[in-house]
Amino acid sequence: MKNSHSMNNSHPQKNIVVLVSGSGSNLQAILDACNNHTIDASVKAVFSNKTDAFGLERAKSAGVDAHSVNPKEFNSREEFDHELMIKIDAYQPDLIVLAGYMRILSSEFVRHYAGKMVNIHPSLLPKYPGLHTHQRAIDAQDKEHGTSVHFVTEELDGGPVILQAKVPVFEDDDADMLASRVLTQEHNIYPMACKWFIEDRLSMVNGQAVLDGNVLGKHGYAEE
Ligand code: GAR
Repeated sequence: MKNSHSMNNSHPQKNIVVLVSGSGSNLQAILDACNNHTIDASVKAVFSNKTDAFGLERAKSAGVDAHSVNPKEFNSREEFDHELMIKIDAYQPDLIVLAGYMRILSSEFVRHYAGKMVNIHPSLLPKYPGLHTHQRAIDAQDKEHGTSVHFVTEELDGGPVILQAKVPVFEDDDADMLASRVLTQEHNIYPMACKWFIEDRLSMVNGQAVLDGNVLGKHGYAEE
């Protein structure tokens, strides 16, 4: 009985929808955390803008609805996002999780899910928004690098940070080595942040991330 856990609870189980463009290893971490009840919610659907995203296979293996929506079939970003919104909303999501979803979002989409959409970005934000973050950290000879979970706002990779994890940068690192070190940390912090949200401990208030009633600083929880 897949939902026996939730049936024992007085509250209805919350729904998560995940968006991916690629491998979906963060999706997997969240699926696992739901399955072992670390997160008291269920992933209802996974959407991708790429038909061949491995994340869709992970969803199917977990018995979760998997959909791809092809941007080429739409005239504009706005039309694509509008259609995606309708499909997502059919699952009545409490939380939208962007997990390696590599598309710029329209304003309408961001506003529609304000306060209930999170993203993970592979840098210590506000450092290195955008692409090629690992190579940029190497090129800058940074001694440390990392990843950030944040609420999504209209500023690209600019929403309030919830949680970060740091990794060292070694002298002989290439971007792939650094990326895999960062990914390992992502698989720990992303499910944790989702858990906080699902437990109503985390919210976005006036553009700031609030955890257990405390406004988080610019590096999120556990700021030095
Ligand atoms: C992750 O490292 C995530 O931080 C990054 O893509 C990777 C997806 O891996 N996201 C971004 O760059 C978003 N701007 P995954 O598909 O194995 O979860």
